[in-house]
Amino acid sequence: MDHFAYRNGRLACEGVDVESIAHAVGTPTYVYSAATLTLHVKRLAEAFAPIEPLMCFAVKCCPNVHVLRPLVDMGLGMDVLAAGCDPSKIVFAGVGKTEAEIRAALAAHIATPAHLTPDARAARALSGADASTADSPRPIACFNVESEGELEAIARIARQMGVRCRAALRVNPGVKAGGHAYITTADTHSKFGVSPEHALELFKRFAHDAHVQVDGLHMHIGSSILTPEPYAEAVRRLLALADQASAAGAPIRWLDIGGGFGADYHTGDAPGAEAFARVIVPLIKPRLDTARARGEELRIVIEPGRTIAANAGLLLTRVQYIKHAAGKKYIVTDAGMQTLLRPSLYQAFHFMWPTRVGPQHEPPTRTERPTVDGVLEAADVVGPVCESGDFLAKDRALPPVAPGDLIAIFAAGAYGMSMASRYNSHCLPAEVLVRGESMTTIRRRETIDDQLAHELTV
Ligand code: LLP
Repeated sequence: MDHFAYRNGRLACEGVDVESIAHAVGTPTYVYSAATLTLHVKRLAEAFAPIEPLMCFAVKCCPNVHVLRPLVDMGLGMDVLAAGCDPSKIVFAGVGKTEAEIRAALAAHIATPAHLTPDARAARALSGADASTADSPRPIACFNVESEGELEAIARIARQMGVRCRAALRVNPGVKAGGHAYITTADTHSKFGVSPEHALELFKRFAHDAHVQVDGLHMHIGSSILTPEPYAEAVRRLLALADQASAAGAPIRWLDIGGGFGADYHTGDAPGAEAFARVIVPLIKPRLDTARARGEELRIVIEPGRTIAANAGLLLTRVQYIKHAAGKKYIVTDAGMQTLLRPSLYQAFHFMWPTRVGPQHEPPTRTERPTVDGVLEAADVVGPVCESGDFLAKDRALPPVAPGDLIAIFAAGAYGMSMASRYNSHCLPAEVLVRGESMTTIRRRETIDDQLAHELTV
């Protein structure tokens, strides 16, 4: 469910006609709906309420500070230092954390970037994110540790800085899940985390470390997971490991089950937060109750990204040319793999449709071939980049379009802008946030001067 809908043949985001956005800021442009972001957060919060999780948004999927800010205001944590988020709600994931990043996370202090708007600066100041200094470091809530070497580095740096922090070991529960081989992470042969056996050794080795409290378990089994069962199986295995750790004298007080809940790329694709919660909550709740009854600490963490942001954003692109070659039709747009990489990289499906259509072409569903009364024509929708892999859709049935028309590419709010590049010297797109009847440009379109600035100043 989201707040993008056709009304009398014109696509609106909440109360704003998306064509007016293209007129105001040009294309390609990412458009986000604040109401949809809020809706998705509420659904997750309600579904998982019985286990009161700390919800840490996966910033990598949509890192614009003006998207993060309302999420922080709704009480969400983050999975990196970001957007004035209270450090006690930040977990830090990543396979290759550098020494500088570890230091920053231990002091929970990053310099306020000069370009932040007064609003964003105020948010940081309010949260206290700028208040901590090397003299009064405030470590983030938890490091999600991916290897023994990283744990050693965190312990060493924490000792040097005279702070104590918490670490959770990321384990591979060995359950395959996720939409594409590139976004499956919990396989035994993946670069992520440590094996359960290795985790048990590390719990023992660091049991008495004065600077790093290793009492957490973390998993993230993949992304775009569309059935709850593999997720539930992985949680079962994680809990079994927690039992083993406890039996070995290392009680687990922090359980982070990661992100990965799917989103609706086709209408009805994703089972919804409730379906995941229905199988996960009963597995975890009894532990929580027992821990509470015994007065022991146990915190549950989830790290959703896509399920919040994907359907809250679309990409607006303008048709440049229509081309026919060797019996095939090509729609050439100003967006391409440099704007939205997912189709090229993962063969991902994104529903796309003209922003203005006749009544016979209003799409009742967002699927490969929606049932409409009007005629559809198959075409490859391709971008401007010199690569055969630069496509947004192949053989896609679409209403007829002409140069100058706008096409909306749906479910692009997660891993869209964040994976955009300057390939072929294209400028990064603009981003717009819609709230009811109003639209705000939350990232201006990059210019060639912006790009050259990095080179001309050296
Ligand atoms: N936690 C960890 C440790 C992660 O690595 C990720 C995503 C998440 C949470 C959030 O997962 P989500 O809830 O968004 O599925 N670029 C790919 C997705 C890569 C996911 C990377 N990790 C795509 O466009 O599909």
